[in-house]
Amino acid sequence: MKPIHLTTAFALAASAALGVGTIQTAQAATLKMECGATGNDRAFCDYVEQRFTEATGHDLEFVELPNSSSEKLGLFQQIFASGQSGVVDVFQADVVWPGILAPHMLDLSDGLGDLEPHFFPGAWQNNVIDGELKAVPGLIDTGLLFYRTDLLDQYNEQPPQTWAEMERIARKIQAAEREAGHDNFWGLVFQGKAYEGLTCNALEWVSSHNGGTLVNADGEITINNAGAAEGLDMAAGWIGDIAPRGVMGYQEEESRAVFQNGDALFMRNWPYAYLLAQDEGSPVKGKVGIVPLPKASGDGQHAAALGGWQWAVSRYTDHPDAAKALVRILADAETQTQRFLMTGVSPARKDVYDDPRILDKAPYMSELLSVFEAAIARPASPTGDNYARVSNAFYNAAFAVLNGEMSGEKAVADLERRLARIKRNAW
Ligand code: GLC
Repeated sequence: MKPIHLTTAFALAASAALGVGTIQTAQAATLKMECGATGNDRAFCDYVEQRFTEATGHDLEFVELPNSSSEKLGLFQQIFASGQSGVVDVFQADVVWPGILAPHMLDLSDGLGDLEPHFFPGAWQNNVIDGELKAVPGLIDTGLLFYRTDLLDQYNEQPPQTWAEMERIARKIQAAEREAGHDNFWGLVFQGKAYEGLTCNALEWVSSHNGGTLVNADGEITINNAGAAEGLDMAAGWIGDIAPRGVMGYQEEESRAVFQNGDALFMRNWPYAYLLAQDEGSPVKGKVGIVPLPKASGDGQHAAALGGWQWAVSRYTDHPDAAKALVRILADAETQTQRFLMTGVSPARKDVYDDPRILDKAPYMSELLSVFEAAIARPASPTGDNYARVSNAFYNAAFAVLNGEMSGEKAVADLERRLARIKRNAW
């Protein structure tokens, strides 16, 4: 049944009172939903449109936004500051945004709160701000190391456990491949541009050296330590050696382009890249493996950043009920399974991980569950609406180290002071 909106009901009553004789029907709403522009995102959006229009009789239009989480956040802040209702109704919020955008997100508790038991508890709770459900998890992400199975076999190597092993193997195979005429072959690609993705990569370098998470759960600034400095220096050492200088301009898709083209041995990326790299037409189809990101030698640990995107509704929407109906479709098991099959992103619903359609395509999925559980959150909760400034300070510091402008030691000392100025007395 089509929901009848209050405004429509009011218009009908008003026209009846005025004696307007035409028979009016409830107007279908046109909802605007964010649709990504990566890989097969559009096919997924078309699937959602079909489900939504069939179920509700409303229409759906898609809005395309920039890929970079940092750029998107800036754009949403502008859109929401203007309080305009017509720009976007349903959008994706990065896992680190609820504390920043909460005032602009509709409370979904009433209508969608019953979905909680199906989702990873951490992902769900992350969207509950001051008791209000601000979004429903769409996908969950974690940093992974991708490698070329064929090349490791050919050169008699195993997937690395430590960064030192990774560097050694990368150097060896890069040299041999170039020797064999593959001039633009590199050992490693990752996300080194100054944006949110670098925050995730650098957090992994720092945490794997037991350098913490910049700000701990109690809100204390912890970044100024030897492990953190070492992690940043390690990555700086890769530039121009096993990783191209251009990596300092790479986001996820630039890294995937190089790896998928067959020009890199290792790649740090999120799970979505697996299915795309294994797609028909991919030059590395059938030659891609994934393992947890390496740890530092000695007492280091494997550290993967936790990422993910949530379906949220703009507080300024004119169609809150239709928007909630759309989020319910986006959140259901079939949609999350279809999205994985089409785009490769990992579902945020834990009950679809044993779906044979998922396991057939990506047998590693069942193992990912434990990686998700151990993944390291960026300090978004303790820093609340200051998180964007904290992350900005961190990725700029990491970038300065990659770029050779300063040592890891100086960068973490400066960053500590900068974070203290952002924090003042309290976050
Ligand atoms: C992925 C993650 C997201 C993160 C972003 C950084 O999209 O899911 O949480 O902020 O990468 O580039």
